[in-house]
Amino acid sequence: MGKRYYYITTPIYYVNGMPHIGTALTTIVADACARYRKQRGHSVYFLTGTDENAPKVHQVAQQQGKPTQQFVDEMAETFARTWQALHIDYDVFIRTTEARHRRVVTEVFRRLRAQGDIYEGRYAGWYCISCETFFAESKVGSGRTCPDCGKLLEYRDEPCYYFRLSRYAEPLRAHITSHPEFIMPEVRRNETLGFMAEGLQDIAVSRSGAEWGIPAPDEPYGTVIYVWFDALLNYLTATDWLERGEDYLEIWPPNLQLMGKDILPRFHATIWPAMLMALGLPLPERLYGHGWWIVNKQKMSKSLGNVYEPLAIAQELSRVSGCALPYAIDAFRYFMLREMPTDSDAEFSLEGFETRYNGDLANDLGNLVHRTLSMWHRYFEGCIPAGVHVAEGLADLFQQQVATVADAFEQVDFPRGLREAWEIIGAINRYYDEQAPWALAKVGDMARTAQVLYGGLEAVRLMSLLVEPVMPQVAQAIAYQINLPDVPVWQDASRIGAIPSGHRLQAPQPIFPRLSKKSGVS
Ligand code: MSP
Repeated sequence: MGKRYYYITTPIYYVNGMPHIGTALTTIVADACARYRKQRGHSVYFLTGTDENAPKVHQVAQQQGKPTQQFVDEMAETFARTWQALHIDYDVFIRTTEARHRRVVTEVFRRLRAQGDIYEGRYAGWYCISCETFFAESKVGSGRTCPDCGKLLEYRDEPCYYFRLSRYAEPLRAHITSHPEFIMPEVRRNETLGFMAEGLQDIAVSRSGAEWGIPAPDEPYGTVIYVWFDALLNYLTATDWLERGEDYLEIWPPNLQLMGKDILPRFHATIWPAMLMALGLPLPERLYGHGWWIVNKQKMSKSLGNVYEPLAIAQELSRVSGCALPYAIDAFRYFMLREMPTDSDAEFSLEGFETRYNGDLANDLGNLVHRTLSMWHRYFEGCIPAGVHVAEGLADLFQQQVATVADAFEQVDFPRGLREAWEIIGAINRYYDEQAPWALAKVGDMARTAQVLYGGLEAVRLMSLLVEPVMPQVAQAIAYQINLPDVPVWQDASRIGAIPSGHRLQAPQPIFPRLSKKSGVS
């Protein structure tokens, strides 16, 4: 059985804290990619989940005085509910405390140990519990703080297992250089090559004296497998690799693995493919690492009190603007993707959200839909007359924009894709200004009025196609108003002039009420 699914993954999230705009970003990007692929006719397998075996998760459970299993159960539920509320249409939600995942991790550990890729040694060095990363003495300054996050490190001196990462340095470098699409965008590829150029040492893959985590097989109590070694394998577990024989190849390998830049060079672009090479498994097709949200020029963190929760932001927008909650949630998704940090980091602010809401959504998209449908009802009772088509120049522009948006979405470049989609709105607004359909109707030139409004209607229809991956409920609302099926199929929908004469439109309903300055979300 060959490959059947377009396989998309998000990282699995640590459950020591609540979902926030950082984890929401990765998840929304993945969801938009999955929805876009579905529109293009792919069968999609979209995986997300939770990383539950980490020492820091156990630590927080203890601080809260809860049994760790109960704590992770509650938190996994919170993550799943949050993603559902954000219209994330995942296929599988994996948890690393599941038995099937433990089986995979244990089996991989056994196999690699049997073939000499995992071997016994001793670890003497530092561990950052916040980053869940081992740091060699040479990387650590005199302050004994983490070179990545700055927090205090703990010293460990104990027997441990190593993974023979060094063995895969050369094959990996060769793979990266011969597959330019493997790591994207290019900055991340360069970061990875830079990281690898420092030399790849074997890495510790077990800890001892631990109370939480997946036990290393055939080892004394307290020896557990390093959480990153365990977590990365979730992508394999989700294909039922151990249970399905060759059939797991219907899903495997991942076509697109999404993540933030912090976990790309070392973990996903080095350790992960090296583990797969050691197992003799095909590598993922593409790894994509986005930039970070920063808030007031600083990293988001609990101690700075600048952590934003996505649902709270959408609920507040809905409350102050009167925008129905599903559309406010879509507005939040739009903002995440329109301003998404790609190559570099980007500043997140509620003012920025408010500006995009009023400008791009209320003034541009909402107004285009409402104005166009209102005119159709005013002049034609909502029914498309015979003999209308999209003016030539306009049809070319539509075609070109649809192709450009598709290209950008394929490159995971949502800011560019959405900017290009909005060009259609700009073009129609100019077209209405030039052609003044209201003036044409006034002098009774109904043939030309219909012709102009038909261009507008096609723009509305195309916008519902183009925004569907980003704002699924809004796309559905637009599709309902123009009386077409909810989820358009790209192939059919990107044809210009698809609305036939005799077609009836529904009454317009405002989607994005304007937010007045005084009552802003900020
Ligand atoms: N558990 C690991 C991943 C294991 S995957 C095998 C982990 N989890 S995490 O909860 O810390 O979340 C990781 C994801 O959230 C990453 O993609 C990370 O980049 C993203 N973000 C966390 N904070 C972020 C911002 N401030 N901005 C953008 N994304 C950020 O790492």
